[in-house]
Amino acid sequence: MNTVQSPGAELGDTARPDNILELAGLSVDIVPRRGPGTSILRNVDVVVPRGQTLGVVGESGSGKTMTLRAILSLLPHSAQRVWERCVIDGVPYSLGVKWPVAMVFQDPMTALDPLRKIGFHLTEVIGRFQPDTKHRAKSAIAALEEVGIDDPERRFRQYPHELSGGMRQRVMIAMALLARPKLLVADEPTTALDVTVQAQILDLVRHVKNTEGLSVILVTHDLGVVAEMCDQVVVMCAGRVVEAGTVDEVFYDARHPYTVGLLDAIPGRSDGVAFGSVSERVGAEWLSDDAVYSQVSETHRYLVPSEQVGS
Ligand SMILES: Nc1ncnc2c1ncn2[C@@H]1O[C@H](COP(=O)(O)OP(=O)(O)OP(=O)(O)O)[C@@H](O)[C@H]1O
Ligand SMILES: [Mg+2]
Repeated sequence: MNTVQSPGAELGDTARPDNILELAGLSVDIVPRRGPGTSILRNVDVVVPRGQTLGVVGESGSGKTMTLRAILSLLPHSAQRVWERCVIDGVPYSLGVKWPVAMVFQDPMTALDPLRKIGFHLTEVIGRFQPDTKHRAKSAIAALEEVGIDDPERRFRQYPHELSGGMRQRVMIAMALLARPKLLVADEPTTALDVTVQAQILDLVRHVKNTEGLSVILVTHDLGVVAEMCDQVVVMCAGRVVEAGTVDEVFYDARHPYTVGLLDAIPGRSDGVAFGSVSERVGAEWLSDDAVYSQVSETHRYLVPSEQVGS
């Protein structure tokens, strides 16, 4: 069995130009002013090949959002982040680095200022790139049109609460695109929306990815969405990556019992009825600190108990 402590170590010193993101050995602890700290992420490695969509899945609390926040330096003050490397578009992290990454959050209402009109939000992003104030409104209206908002001139003058949830999420995507990213990070962009609107927003993400030539990280609870939208998938449990690979490798040849449990939890895929979370049903040895990665193929790896190594 080919095992490694952290596949990140195998990335070497220089970033591969065909990867938009190379993150290796990310750990995050929450350290309160008093009392002991809590480990939130342990040794997380994530690679996104250029032009591809990476799905990040795992149960609630598994560390999906924290991983994205760590990459974007949006962690809470009490968090301590360490990593071996984080390189985006060939540029390693350094203080003040401006990476071409934009994020779309789960709930657009918390990301939009309720007291500011839609136009304000958009022109503010445009202003970062376009010092000339004359054409900002025109660019903003064009951006609304691009994400499929009807009557963009009227929407431009409205407040966030006057738009539906789906429209607000379209505004968030328009804002993200105006920041001219190469990597778009979407954290459960459709959970707050009803099913038809969910499909429309996912179609929009797919559309902008193709037209703008973006790479995408998509966090979702929905494995059906991963199957439809993603090329690669990372499965997270208790702050670790327990399995990663192409969608076909992980869906058709799942190796870690947590991944198998998640796949079995898809309605219609299993006969049995299981209660409680999937992670509670996985043997502790599969998530223990000394578990190591077994490399199935160049892209497919999963965490194995150290006792199984060499057996
Ligand atoms: N601001 C915070 N301070 C302290 N701990 C936090 C904070 N935010 C999240 N956590 C903890 O970090 C862990 C990972 O949380 P995270 O938000 O990344 O989970 P998630 O996988 O995104 O879950 P969900 O699917 O519910 O969004 C959880 O144990 C959570 O309790
Ligand atoms: Mg989350």
